Amino acid sequence: MSNQDSNSIKSAVKDAYTKAIEKPGSGCCGGGNGSPTDTMKGSLVKLAGYSSSELQSLPADAVENAFGCGNPLAFSGVKEGDVVVDIGSGAGIDCLIASKIVGDNGKVIGLDMTPKMIEKATENIRRAGANNVEFRLGDADDMPIANGIADWVISNCVINLAPDKDKVFAEIFRVLKPGGRVSISDVVLGTTLPEQVRTSISALVGCVAGALEETDYLQKMREAGLQEVKVTDRIVYDRSQIKGLTEGECGCCDLEKELEPFLPQIDEQIWSAKISAKKPQI
Ligand SMILES: C[S@@+](CC[C@H](N)C(=O)[O-])C[C@H]1O[C@@H](n2cnc3c(N)ncnc32)[C@H](O)[C@@H]1O
Repeated sequence: MSNQDSNSIKSAVKDAYTKAIEKPGSGCCGGGNGSPTDTMKGSLVKLAGYSSSELQSLPADAVENAFGCGNPLAFSGVKEGDVVVDIGSGAGIDCLIASKIVGDNGKVIGLDMTPKMIEKATENIRRAGANNVEFRLGDADDMPIANGIADWVISNCVINLAPDKDKVFAEIFRVLKPGGRVSISDVVLGTTLPEQVRTSISALVGCVAGALEETDYLQKMREAGLQEVKVTDRIVYDRSQIKGLTEGECGCCDLEKELEPFLPQIDEQIWSAKISAKKPQI
């Protein structure tokens, strides 16, 4: 992909997530505007994996502005004292949960390329009084994070949005300590998407068009040097869940309408995967 294409993808993603945060009720991955009691399909999809007690213990704003597709901490072994890097931390939901687990002896670094997300996450952390969390503005493919500092890299519905996934996985490898681990929730595919979906900007920012087939995703992680790469679970989206995932306008366009004609082809071919991996101990 040319630099120009890559830059235009990033700027479309940044614009969409800026609008999503500025305009409550619009949604990108997962619909936006969820709450622990919300019964919107989109919210149910996006909040899959969080317990209601977990959600109720967080500032409502962090939950309402969650745009993920799983709960990467739920299947991680993050523990007290760990250093956790959250790639594409959004409004901070997973950083807040990680903050409670790692405690005062640990640290959480949330990275996001959208300034409005960093602002929102910083407010949420202040509300929660979480002093062990720091947010950094930056790109997943060139992280402003030192080599070998993370016990865990987590990410929730972000890498599908990145135009250069090889670079992102290389960066994950770089920032992990030897023996450090990875826990990712992300949208992946079981088939090649129809051309009209693959080239749709709304499907891109809605976490569909940039997704890789699962086998390719895992292969890229292995090529970056990660080991024990595996999918431990899948939330496979049927037609109504695909609609739920794409509910809302994503700040730019009506994704649900765009996908409608292709639903028979993509039914159960899009899922949120729980992916784990490890950097070798040297
Ligand atoms: C679908 S949202 C998920 C946010 C958060 N993980 C959550 O679960 O609510 C995607 C987030 O990733 C960020 N993002 C997308 N591409 C990125 C990249 N290449 N580098 C850093 N952040 C990125 C967006 O700004 C947005 O905040």
